[in-house]
Amino acid sequence: MSSTLAESWERYAATSKPRRATNGCGESTWLNWTQYADHGPDETVLGPVAGRKVLELGSGSGDNLAHLVTLGASGVGIDVAPSREAVARKRWGGLPGVEFRTAEAVEFLEGATEEFDVVLSIFGAVWFTAPDTLMPLVRGRISLGGVLVFSHLPPGSQELQPGKTGMRHDHTPDEWRSLLVGHGFSDVRVSLIDPPEAKAVGTMLVHARAA
Ligand SMILES: C[S@@+](CC[C@H](N)C(=O)[O-])C[C@H]1O[C@@H](n2cnc3c(N)ncnc32)[C@H](O)[C@@H]1O
Repeated sequence: MSSTLAESWERYAATSKPRRATNGCGESTWLNWTQYADHGPDETVLGPVAGRKVLELGSGSGDNLAHLVTLGASGVGIDVAPSREAVARKRWGGLPGVEFRTAEAVEFLEGATEEFDVVLSIFGAVWFTAPDTLMPLVRGRISLGGVLVFSHLPPGSQELQPGKTGMRHDHTPDEWRSLLVGHGFSDVRVSLIDPPEAKAVGTMLVHARAA
């Protein structure tokens, strides 16, 4: 694993605050695709998850993946920063069916043998890894008809730039469509989630199906 990458993300992790114990609806687990609390679509974007095998690339503190597991999925969350695994295990390690590992996304996928029905990444490794490297590996580990869904800032946004400058792989909706179709995905849908306030930055949400 690239220790420089892990160190860079460890520095970012040191600035991360734990998620609130409950959301605005009083729920103790939930999935948030956006950078704003209590905002945007929920896990239904993924389709039914009960009984599905889920992989999260860049799972951070594990809260989003844990929510899917409470709905009946089994989940593996990987993150390049070792402290993220420790935090996620401490909070969610007792939940049956969830597993957290320290791994870089490309290295994990290169070594993986299992198939996943759902792959997600929320401001995670998909945003920080060259798609021509990552997408063939994701396609290779996702079952036929399985879904890949990820979110990140819209291209051109200047906020939230953790780690080294130039790490982000920002793409326009047309670029994502062409990249994903080129790597064996279909049904590519890219939406821009409006921010809660007019002057703030929205969120790009990308959905694709393994063809
Ligand atoms: C902006 S944080 C988002 C974390 C989490 N998904 C969330 O929504 O809170 C990005 C996460 O992706 C991880 N990450 C970045 N590049 C990665 C890579 N190539 N492989 C694995 N994890 C990576 C970072 O360590 C970090 O925890």
